[in-house]
Amino acid sequence: MPEQQRILAALDIGATKVRAMVAQIFEDNSVYCLGYGETPAEGIRRGVIVNMDKVTRVIARAVEQAECQANTSVDSLVVGIAGDHIRSINSQGAINVSRSDNEILQADVERATEAAQDVAIPPDREIIHVIPQDYCVDGQCGIRNPIGMTGSRLEVETHIVTCAAATAKNIFRALERCDLGLGGFALESYAAARSVITEVEEDLGVVALDIGGEASEISVFKNGFIRYSACIPMGGQNITNDIAIGLRTSVEEAERLKLEYGAAMTSQVRTHEMMEVSAVGGRPARNISRAVLATIIEARAEEILSLVSRELKRVDLNRDLSAGVTLIGAGSRLPGIVDLAEQTLNLPAKVGRPSGVENLPDEVNGPECATVLGLILYASEKGITTQEGGGGLRGAMKKMETWFTGHF
Ligand SMILES: Nc1ncnc2c1ncn2[C@@H]1O[C@H](COP(=O)(O)OP(=O)(O)OP(=O)(O)O)[C@@H](O)[C@H]1O
Ligand SMILES: [Mg+2]
Repeated sequence: MPEQQRILAALDIGATKVRAMVAQIFEDNSVYCLGYGETPAEGIRRGVIVNMDKVTRVIARAVEQAECQANTSVDSLVVGIAGDHIRSINSQGAINVSRSDNEILQADVERATEAAQDVAIPPDREIIHVIPQDYCVDGQCGIRNPIGMTGSRLEVETHIVTCAAATAKNIFRALERCDLGLGGFALESYAAARSVITEVEEDLGVVALDIGGEASEISVFKNGFIRYSACIPMGGQNITNDIAIGLRTSVEEAERLKLEYGAAMTSQVRTHEMMEVSAVGGRPARNISRAVLATIIEARAEEILSLVSRELKRVDLNRDLSAGVTLIGAGSRLPGIVDLAEQTLNLPAKVGRPSGVENLPDEVNGPECATVLGLILYASEKGITTQEGGGGLRGAMKKMETWFTGHF
């Protein structure tokens, strides 16, 4: 296939929405969105498949929408993985440089990274990423890229991200049932950062916080590398449930009120502003102050942000984050959430605005699309192709086999 026709596809299986994108990569590495599909999620809880039939259906629908808009079909997709089954550890690898003149080659870097993976990973876990964080050459550390340098001993500090093998396998099976292959997995928040966080911010120190439906995912970057990732099992749906209980209404009505009148800081809402709330069980609708709604939202939003703050403190990563926190996920659309985040985390905060992919329709350039866009950028960076010109599905199956060889 000619280079200018390289096609990529990505899939973000969220708790509330499944999002798919087909993009084209040009020779100059620019990325162009060809098609986007989005469908309400079903059959998935906290990143784990709980109903295979439903998940298969919604994945197929989202991918077909994207393919239809792109006017092309794809054989495989790069898929985001997230949830509280994700674990990360930091591990070191060290090797003796192979060349007699001590020049460090790509192969040495690969061997050092491989040595770092020599840690006990339980059989029910799958490695998703081994991300180099820092290189030391003959004891001198803080090196970003040692290739071409001279030294006899190369050490690498890596960040190893693993997921539950069963979850990975179930996602793989769901794709298989849609006649789609797996182009690779990527940790959602790690991939998402590519679309909303600049290299300068990664250097200075930044937290990407994805406030989704059922979870809030944290990734911390510093000195150019990811340092830590974690998942707080609470998101926008918890806020909606609190509203439903607090205002004694249905979950659907609570969601509508949140989207229409919601705010995360009570102090920013005028108490005399009223809204009509429909009741359940045939009781009449009532007029309730927006401030009451904001009080309910603020309590849960503050709890989520406090848990983020506690997690950052626990791993000693709450200081020296000069670039602050970048909020993504649809939960970051809540008015007042930026101020509440600044106050609770004691860091400058903003909502992430995705960039790096051209030709984005208006509905695809908000913070909720950071993950699917980041997955496309990740795939582009890694040189992954998800359309096998002529090879068709057989090529994709081969790729899947390669990925899973030896694991299942
Ligand atoms: N304008 C808005 N204001 C406040 N909250 C919003 C808004 N739009 C969507 N949400 C909330 O965002 C949440 C969904 O976020 P998102 O679409 O990023 O999640 P997801 O990717 O499906 O889930 P997850 O990332 O947890 O797997 C829902 O709880 C929804 O109510
Ligand atoms: Mg999400």
